[in-house]
Amino acid sequence: MGHDKLRKFAENETFSCLKQPSSEGVVLRTGEPGLHLQDHPLKGRWGADVFGNDRPIVLELGCGKGDYTVALAERFPSMNFIGVDIKGARLWKGAKYVTENKIANAAFLRTRVEFLEAFFAPGEVAEIWLTFSDPQLKSPSSRLSSPEFLRRYCRFLAPGGTVHLKTDSRFLHEYTKAVVKASDYPVLACSADVYVKGLPAGAPPAAPQQGKLPPVVTEIQTFYEKMFLAEGYPITYVAFTPCGEPAAPDFDEKFWKQAEGGRRSFSHAPHKKQ
Ligand SMILES: C[S@@+](CC[C@H](N)C(=O)[O-])C[C@H]1O[C@@H](n2cnc3c(N)ncnc32)[C@H](O)[C@@H]1O
Repeated sequence: MGHDKLRKFAENETFSCLKQPSSEGVVLRTGEPGLHLQDHPLKGRWGADVFGNDRPIVLELGCGKGDYTVALAERFPSMNFIGVDIKGARLWKGAKYVTENKIANAAFLRTRVEFLEAFFAPGEVAEIWLTFSDPQLKSPSSRLSSPEFLRRYCRFLAPGGTVHLKTDSRFLHEYTKAVVKASDYPVLACSADVYVKGLPAGAPPAAPQQGKLPPVVTEIQTFYEKMFLAEGYPITYVAFTPCGEPAAPDFDEKFWKQAEGGRRSFSHAPHKKQ
């Protein structure tokens, strides 16, 4: 492991805004197939034990360096924000900023999104942001907007709570819309190009923009968003209310994989590894 990563991991231990529970504490080894979780002491206690208030809690899942979590926390002091990611070296940046700038309404949780039911009680979360999630072209059940993940979110999202997906991946955007449609979830807003630059020549036609986009969609840009924008990718957005059991989508994987074309995967670029 690199010296810089070790330094960040050591400094992470000093940040009170960063919770780094061991997976052994929440994943039960039962010998039975499937994931078996046990509750973490923070479950249902984030307001009282971490923020010291009962204001609404918003999660950013796969937050990376925490750009969205930090920017939302600075804009909305009457709400609490928690960035979740498994990579400690990325979380270090957000946690350091929050610590140095004494931002009381932002925190970070280092864990897998798959384990979140162990950390959040029913109704404890008001909103979820998915920002530039990996489209997981080969593994539908690993997509953070798949029925498998939406079922998990519904176990801690408050009734009427919103899921926002902002992504450069037209594939993930269209897949998510198909899940939402199959599940009959209300769509609050949707856009295939939030900056209205125009889709690239040859791109499949997009549905017209629907609903009013929250201003933060274009006001805040994450680390990955800036890289994708520099490469000329349109940025998409969809917000919906997952109420009830999610359904398998009617989605043409092959067509949309082809439409995705040679999209760059920055997470696999050696010089960008975190
Ligand atoms: C493409 S990066 C985007 C980071 C950030 N949202 C941004 O826009 O700059 C995706 C992030 O999701 C995290 N991630 C992916 N799957 C995850 C999972 N199942 N649990 C926790 N983190 C995950 C990765 O570690 C990575 O930091």
